[in-house]
Amino acid sequence: VIAGADIYGGTYRILTTLLARWGVTADFVDTTDPDAVRAAIRPETRALFVETPANPLLQITDLRSMAAIAKKHGLLSIVDNTFMTPWLQRPLELGFDIVLHSATKFLGGHSDVLAGLAVAADKELSDRLFDIQTAVGGVLGPWDSWLVLRGMKTLGARMDRQQAGAETIAAELRKWPEVRRVFYPTLSGHPGREVHLAQAGGGGAVVSFELRDGAAAKRALSRVQLCLPAVSLGGVESILSHPPTMSHRAMPPAVRRARGINDGLLRLSVGLEDPEDILADLRQAVGSQGRK
Ligand SMILES: Cc1ncc(COP(=O)(O)O)c(C=O)c1O
Repeated sequence: VIAGADIYGGTYRILTTLLARWGVTADFVDTTDPDAVRAAIRPETRALFVETPANPLLQITDLRSMAAIAKKHGLLSIVDNTFMTPWLQRPLELGFDIVLHSATKFLGGHSDVLAGLAVAADKELSDRLFDIQTAVGGVLGPWDSWLVLRGMKTLGARMDRQQAGAETIAAELRKWPEVRRVFYPTLSGHPGREVHLAQAGGGGAVVSFELRDGAAAKRALSRVQLCLPAVSLGGVESILSHPPTMSHRAMPPAVRRARGINDGLLRLSVGLEDPEDILADLRQAVGSQGRK
């Protein structure tokens, strides 16, 4: 498997531990660079796995060129679309074979269900996935299914409002002296901005930002009052997490740092609250007066 270097820590863990037991190995490649992906393809490569915007640095991978590379080399193309949801990005239409969603996040939307979806356009492929699903018993119970369906009824309304909040917050955080870097796909200067705008309907509701160091990040996390300090994302409530000690804990520190995930990094999933209230909370947590 060729997998993006900037991906959710749990996926990294599955690729490096669980799948390794079945002889599946992963090469982690900067998928923001199509040439790097082409160069990494070996005769035994079977699949290309990407995530865009990726967790936690919101790096952007060009879905059209990844789908084309995969087709040319006979690879199965798989994308984790959790951050965007089908409301903002539809990779099957851009040529991908399989789209994955953690429905625990925006699709469910209320932080009260654990669920996941694998979507395939091709009937034969979806039949194969269905066979595996029924064989291993990865079947969602009726109550959980109901929660996901209920959440999806408001997906568009939630995403639009949470995204508008994220845009406001990302632009504001950039002005604070305590904040070293802000990562948000449609922010001016974001390296993948143009590619992202050509394949998605907006920047989504996740903003990452970097404070001075790990101590500053942990202090902010312990001080937030409106934002929920937790590992998840995609709920109606704003959720602040510290990737190095939470979602990306499974990644060795040296690998993490090499990928630009510094100890001062925080990831904010913007909820439905008034963006000004979220900013006020962050301002007191980060210790910034900001520049109003
Ligand atoms: C991009 C991405 N994919 C997958 C997952 C896994 O989600 P779940 O908790 O539903 O297994 C997460 C969780 O944070 C994620 O951020």
